[in-house]
Amino acid sequence: MQHNLKGNNGPRVRHLVEVGAPYRTIGVDKLTPIIGAELDGVDLARPLPPEQLAEIRRALAEHSVIFFRDQVLTKEQHLDFGRLFGPLHVHPAAPHEPGLPELMIIHADRDSPRANGEGWHTDVSCEEEPPMGSILYIKTCPPHGGDTLFASMYAAYEALSDRMKAYLDGLTALHDSEDVYRGTYANFGVADKPEYPKANHPVVRTHPVTGRRALYVNRGFTRRINGIPRDESDGILAYLYQHMENPLFQCRFRWRANSIAFWDNRCVQHRAMWDYWPNTRSGNRVTIAGDKPV
Ligand code: SIN
Repeated sequence: MQHNLKGNNGPRVRHLVEVGAPYRTIGVDKLTPIIGAELDGVDLARPLPPEQLAEIRRALAEHSVIFFRDQVLTKEQHLDFGRLFGPLHVHPAAPHEPGLPELMIIHADRDSPRANGEGWHTDVSCEEEPPMGSILYIKTCPPHGGDTLFASMYAAYEALSDRMKAYLDGLTALHDSEDVYRGTYANFGVADKPEYPKANHPVVRTHPVTGRRALYVNRGFTRRINGIPRDESDGILAYLYQHMENPLFQCRFRWRANSIAFWDNRCVQHRAMWDYWPNTRSGNRVTIAGDKPV
Protein backbone atom coordinates (compact mmCIF):
# COMPACT_ATOMS: atom_id res chain seq x y z
CA MET A 1 0.00 0.00 0.00
CA GLN A 2 1.28 3.49 -0.85
CA HIS A 3 1.13 6.10 1.88
CA ASN A 4 0.36 9.66 0.96
CA LEU A 5 2.62 11.00 3.71
CA LYS A 6 1.96 14.65 3.23
CA GLY A 7 -1.76 14.47 2.88
CA ASN A 8 -2.34 11.60 5.28
CA ASN A 9 0.13 10.96 8.11
CA GLY A 10 2.03 14.23 8.04
CA PRO A 11 -0.57 16.50 9.62
CA ARG A 12 -1.54 13.84 12.15
CA VAL A 13 1.99 13.52 13.56
CA ARG A 14 2.95 17.16 13.34
CA HIS A 15 1.56 18.05 16.76
CA LEU A 16 3.91 15.52 18.39
CA VAL A 17 6.91 17.78 17.92
CA GLU A 18 8.13 18.76 21.37
CA VAL A 19 8.84 22.38 22.13
CA GLY A 20 10.79 22.02 25.38
CA ALA A 21 12.62 24.59 27.45
CA PRO A 22 16.18 25.34 26.30
CA TYR A 23 18.91 23.06 27.64
CA ARG A 24 21.61 24.67 29.80
CA THR A 25 24.23 21.96 30.21
CA ILE A 26 24.09 19.97 26.95
CA GLY A 27 23.76 20.58 23.24
CA VAL A 28 20.75 18.84 21.68
CA ASP A 29 20.64 18.48 17.90
CA LYS A 30 17.53 16.73 16.59
CA LEU A 31 17.89 14.07 13.90
CA THR A 32 14.25 14.52 12.86
CA PRO A 33 11.31 16.47 14.27
CA ILE A 34 9.75 13.18 15.43
CA ILE A 35 12.52 11.07 16.95
CA GLY A 36 16.21 11.13 17.84
CA ALA A 37 18.69 13.75 19.00
CA GLU A 38 22.46 13.90 19.17
CA LEU A 39 23.77 15.31 22.46
CA ASP A 40 27.07 17.06 22.94
CA GLY A 41 28.98 18.65 25.79
CA VAL A 42 28.82 15.38 27.74
CA ASP A 43 31.71 13.17 28.86
CA LEU A 44 30.16 9.95 30.11
CA ALA A 45 33.49 8.77 31.53
CA ARG A 46 33.25 11.47 34.24
CA PRO A 47 30.71 11.80 37.04
CA LEU A 48 27.73 13.68 35.63
CA PRO A 49 26.66 16.84 37.45
CA PRO A 50 23.03 16.40 38.66
CA GLU A 51 21.71 19.13 36.36
CA GLN A 52 23.35 17.50 33.35
CA LEU A 53 21.97 14.09 34.27
CA ALA A 54 18.49 15.63 34.63
CA GLU A 55 18.85 17.18 31.17
CA ILE A 56 19.94 13.84 29.67
CA ARG A 57 16.81 12.27 31.17
CA ARG A 58 14.71 15.07 29.71
CA ALA A 59 16.33 14.69 26.29
CA LEU A 60 15.53 10.96 26.34
CA ALA A 61 11.90 11.70 27.28
CA GLU A 62 11.56 14.34 24.55
CA HIS A 63 13.39 12.54 21.74
CA SER A 64 12.98 8.81 22.63
CA VAL A 65 16.51 7.94 21.45
CA ILE A 66 19.63 9.99 22.15
CA PHE A 67 23.13 9.68 20.75
CA PHE A 68 26.57 10.54 22.07
CA ARG A 69 29.76 10.73 19.99
CA ASP A 70 33.43 10.31 20.87
CA GLN A 71 32.96 8.58 24.21
CA VAL A 72 35.83 6.53 25.61
CA LEU A 73 34.42 4.32 28.35
CA THR A 74 35.68 1.29 30.23
CA LYS A 75 33.25 -1.60 30.65
CA GLU A 76 32.62 -0.48 34.25
CA GLN A 77 31.95 3.12 33.19
CA HIS A 78 29.43 1.89 30.62
CA LEU A 79 27.69 -0.18 33.32
CA ASP A 80 27.80 2.75 35.78
CA PHE A 81 26.17 5.05 33.25
CA GLY A 82 23.34 2.54 32.87
CA ARG A 83 22.90 2.26 36.65
CA LEU A 84 22.12 5.98 36.82
CA PHE A 85 18.78 5.11 35.20
CA GLY A 86 17.86 2.05 37.25
CA PRO A 87 18.83 -1.55 38.03
CA LEU A 88 20.42 -3.37 35.11
CA HIS A 89 18.78 -6.15 33.17
CA VAL A 90 20.42 -9.49 32.37
CA HIS A 91 19.52 -10.78 28.92
CA PRO A 92 17.79 -14.20 29.02
CA ALA A 93 19.83 -15.61 26.13
CA ALA A 94 22.50 -13.38 24.59
CA PRO A 95 26.24 -13.67 25.34
CA HIS A 96 27.87 -11.31 27.82
CA GLU A 97 31.38 -10.24 28.68
CA PRO A 98 33.15 -12.71 31.00
CA GLY A 99 32.13 -12.09 34.62
CA LEU A 100 29.81 -9.21 33.63
CA PRO A 101 26.33 -10.66 32.99
CA GLU A 102 24.82 -7.20 32.50
CA LEU A 103 27.22 -6.33 29.68
CA MET A 104 25.85 -7.93 26.53
CA ILE A 105 28.12 -8.58 23.56
CA ILE A 106 27.01 -7.13 20.22
CA HIS A 107 29.34 -8.48 17.56
CA ALA A 108 29.22 -9.56 13.93
CA ASP A 109 32.10 -10.41 11.62
CA ARG A 110 32.83 -12.50 8.52
CA ASP A 111 32.14 -15.75 10.41
CA SER A 112 28.83 -14.71 11.97
CA PRO A 113 25.70 -16.59 10.94
CA ARG A 114 23.62 -13.51 11.86
CA ALA A 115 23.80 -10.12 13.54
CA ASN A 116 21.73 -8.88 16.46
CA GLY A 117 18.50 -7.06 15.87
CA GLU A 118 18.14 -7.44 12.12
CA GLY A 119 14.34 -7.13 12.21
CA TRP A 120 12.15 -4.46 13.79
CA HIS A 121 11.75 -5.17 17.48
CA THR A 122 11.51 -3.88 21.03
CA ASP A 123 14.21 -5.35 23.25
CA VAL A 124 13.05 -8.42 25.21
CA SER A 125 9.36 -7.48 25.11
CA CYS A 126 8.77 -11.19 25.86
CA GLU A 127 9.43 -10.57 29.58
CA GLU A 128 6.75 -9.66 32.14
CA GLU A 129 8.76 -6.52 32.92
CA PRO A 130 10.58 -5.67 29.69
CA PRO A 131 13.64 -3.40 29.78
CA MET A 132 13.06 0.32 30.04
CA GLY A 133 16.02 1.29 27.90
CA SER A 134 19.15 0.08 26.16
CA ILE A 135 22.55 1.76 25.90
CA LEU A 136 24.57 0.48 22.96
CA TYR A 137 28.25 1.44 22.75
CA ILE A 138 29.86 0.57 19.41
CA LYS A 139 33.65 0.54 19.46
CA THR A 140 34.47 -1.09 16.13
CA CYS A 141 32.63 0.05 13.00
CA PRO A 142 32.64 -1.20 9.44
CA PRO A 143 33.89 1.36 6.89
CA HIS A 144 30.30 1.77 5.66
CA GLY A 145 26.92 0.48 6.80
CA GLY A 146 25.86 -1.01 10.10
CA ASP A 147 23.40 1.83 10.76
CA THR A 148 20.59 1.40 13.26
CA LEU A 149 17.04 2.55 12.47
CA PHE A 150 14.73 3.74 15.24
CA ALA A 151 10.97 4.25 14.98
CA SER A 152 8.72 6.24 17.30
CA MET A 153 5.78 4.20 18.54
CA TYR A 154 4.19 7.42 19.84
CA ALA A 155 4.10 8.75 16.29
CA ALA A 156 2.86 5.40 14.95
CA TYR A 157 0.03 5.36 17.51
CA GLU A 158 -0.94 9.00 16.98
CA ALA A 159 -1.16 8.51 13.22
CA LEU A 160 -3.76 5.73 13.54
CA SER A 161 -7.36 6.59 12.81
CA ASP A 162 -9.63 7.19 15.78
CA ARG A 163 -11.55 4.06 14.79
CA MET A 164 -8.39 1.94 14.90
CA LYS A 165 -7.38 3.48 18.25
CA ALA A 166 -10.81 2.60 19.65
CA TYR A 167 -10.52 -0.97 18.30
CA LEU A 168 -7.08 -1.51 19.87
CA ASP A 169 -8.07 -0.03 23.21
CA GLY A 170 -7.98 -2.72 25.92
CA LEU A 171 -6.52 -5.47 23.70
CA THR A 172 -3.53 -7.50 24.86
CA ALA A 173 -1.03 -9.54 22.85
CA LEU A 174 1.23 -12.50 23.51
CA HIS A 175 4.99 -11.89 23.20
CA ASP A 176 7.03 -15.12 23.02
CA SER A 177 10.80 -15.56 22.63
CA GLU A 178 11.08 -19.35 22.22
CA ASP A 179 11.65 -19.27 18.45
CA VAL A 180 13.74 -16.08 18.72
CA TYR A 181 16.33 -17.31 21.20
CA ARG A 182 16.53 -21.11 20.92
CA GLY A 183 19.82 -21.95 19.23
CA THR A 184 20.43 -18.34 18.23
CA TYR A 185 23.64 -17.79 20.19
CA ALA A 186 25.23 -21.23 19.66
CA ASN A 187 28.02 -19.58 17.63
CA PHE A 188 29.01 -17.70 20.82
CA GLY A 189 29.08 -20.99 22.76
CA VAL A 190 25.87 -20.16 24.67
CA ALA A 191 23.91 -23.27 25.72
CA ASP A 192 20.13 -23.20 25.37
CA LYS A 193 17.88 -22.86 28.41
CA PRO A 194 14.96 -25.25 29.05
CA GLU A 195 12.55 -22.43 28.30
CA TYR A 196 12.50 -18.79 27.25
CA PRO A 197 10.24 -15.97 28.47
CA LYS A 198 6.76 -15.16 27.24
CA ALA A 199 4.30 -12.55 28.48
CA ASN A 200 1.07 -10.76 27.63
CA HIS A 201 1.12 -6.99 27.25
CA PRO A 202 -1.32 -4.28 26.21
CA VAL A 203 -1.25 -3.55 22.47
CA VAL A 204 -1.09 0.14 23.35
CA ARG A 205 0.89 1.17 26.43
CA THR A 206 1.06 4.42 28.33
CA HIS A 207 4.57 5.68 28.97
CA PRO A 208 5.11 6.04 32.73
CA VAL A 209 7.20 9.22 32.37
CA THR A 210 5.63 11.15 29.51
CA GLY A 211 2.05 9.88 29.86
CA ARG A 212 1.92 9.46 26.08
CA ARG A 213 0.42 6.39 24.41
CA ALA A 214 2.59 4.16 22.22
CA LEU A 215 1.97 1.08 20.08
CA TYR A 216 3.52 -1.92 21.78
CA VAL A 217 3.50 -4.84 19.32
CA ASN A 218 6.57 -5.82 17.31
CA ARG A 219 7.51 -8.31 14.61
CA GLY A 220 10.28 -9.77 16.75
CA PHE A 221 8.28 -11.07 19.69
CA THR A 222 4.53 -10.48 19.30
CA ARG A 223 2.78 -13.69 18.25
CA ARG A 224 -0.93 -12.91 18.45
CA ILE A 225 -3.55 -10.54 19.78
CA ASN A 226 -5.53 -12.27 22.49
CA GLY A 227 -9.29 -12.79 22.45
CA ILE A 228 -9.94 -12.39 18.72
CA PRO A 229 -9.90 -15.00 15.92
CA ARG A 230 -6.46 -16.00 14.70
CA ASP A 231 -6.96 -14.68 11.17
CA GLU A 232 -8.18 -11.35 12.52
CA SER A 233 -5.13 -11.12 14.79
CA ASP A 234 -2.82 -11.92 11.86
CA GLY A 235 -4.48 -9.25 9.72
CA ILE A 236 -4.41 -6.54 12.40
CA LEU A 237 -0.78 -7.26 13.32
CA ALA A 238 0.25 -7.23 9.65
CA TYR A 239 -1.42 -3.82 9.26
CA LEU A 240 0.17 -2.43 12.42
CA TYR A 241 3.65 -3.63 11.43
CA GLN A 242 3.31 -2.10 7.99
CA HIS A 243 1.98 1.11 9.49
CA MET A 244 4.71 1.47 12.14
CA GLU A 245 7.46 0.94 9.57
CA ASN A 246 6.51 4.15 7.77
CA PRO A 247 9.80 6.12 7.37
CA LEU A 248 7.99 9.22 8.61
CA PHE A 249 8.23 7.84 12.15
CA GLN A 250 11.94 6.96 11.90
CA CYS A 251 15.46 8.21 12.28
CA ARG A 252 18.58 6.42 11.13
CA PHE A 253 21.84 6.60 13.06
CA ARG A 254 25.17 6.33 11.31
CA TRP A 255 27.70 4.93 13.74
CA ARG A 256 31.28 6.00 14.16
CA ALA A 257 33.66 4.24 16.52
CA ASN A 258 33.01 5.26 20.14
CA SER A 259 29.41 6.34 19.61
CA ILE A 260 26.56 5.50 21.98
CA ALA A 261 22.84 5.17 21.32
CA PHE A 262 20.45 5.19 24.27
CA TRP A 263 16.87 4.28 23.34
CA ASP A 264 13.67 4.06 25.33
CA ASN A 265 12.15 0.62 24.72
CA ARG A 266 8.78 1.79 26.01
CA CYS A 267 8.17 3.97 22.96
CA VAL A 268 10.77 2.96 20.33
CA GLN A 269 11.40 0.02 18.04
CA HIS A 270 14.72 -0.44 16.33
CA ARG A 271 16.34 -2.44 13.56
CA ALA A 272 20.03 -2.99 12.91
CA MET A 273 21.33 -3.18 9.33
CA TRP A 274 23.68 -6.09 8.60
CA ASP A 275 24.87 -4.73 5.28
CA TYR A 276 28.59 -4.67 6.11
CA TRP A 277 29.63 -8.34 5.78
CA PRO A 278 32.50 -9.38 5.77
CA ASN A 279 33.51 -6.41 7.93
CA THR A 280 33.32 -6.33 11.70
CA ARG A 281 31.00 -4.30 13.90
CA SER A 282 31.43 -4.73 17.62
CA GLY A 283 30.46 -3.27 20.98
CA ASN A 284 28.46 -3.80 24.14
CA ARG A 285 24.92 -3.14 25.29
CA VAL A 286 23.83 -2.27 28.79
CA THR A 287 20.10 -2.74 29.28
CA ILE A 288 18.09 -1.09 32.05
CA ALA A 289 15.34 -3.01 33.79
CA GLY A 290 11.78 -1.81 33.30
CA ASP A 291 8.30 -2.26 34.71
CA LYS A 292 5.10 -3.97 33.59
CA PRO A 293 3.53 -2.19 30.62
CA VAL A 294 0.12 -0.67 31.33
C1 SIN B 1 20.07 -4.57 19.30
O1 SIN B 1 20.28 -4.24 20.46
O2 SIN B 1 19.00 -4.98 18.91
C2 SIN B 1 21.20 -4.38 18.30
C3 SIN B 1 21.16 -3.01 17.74
C4 SIN B 1 22.36 -2.72 16.89
O3 SIN B 1 23.29 -3.53 16.85
O4 SIN B 1 22.39 -1.66 16.28
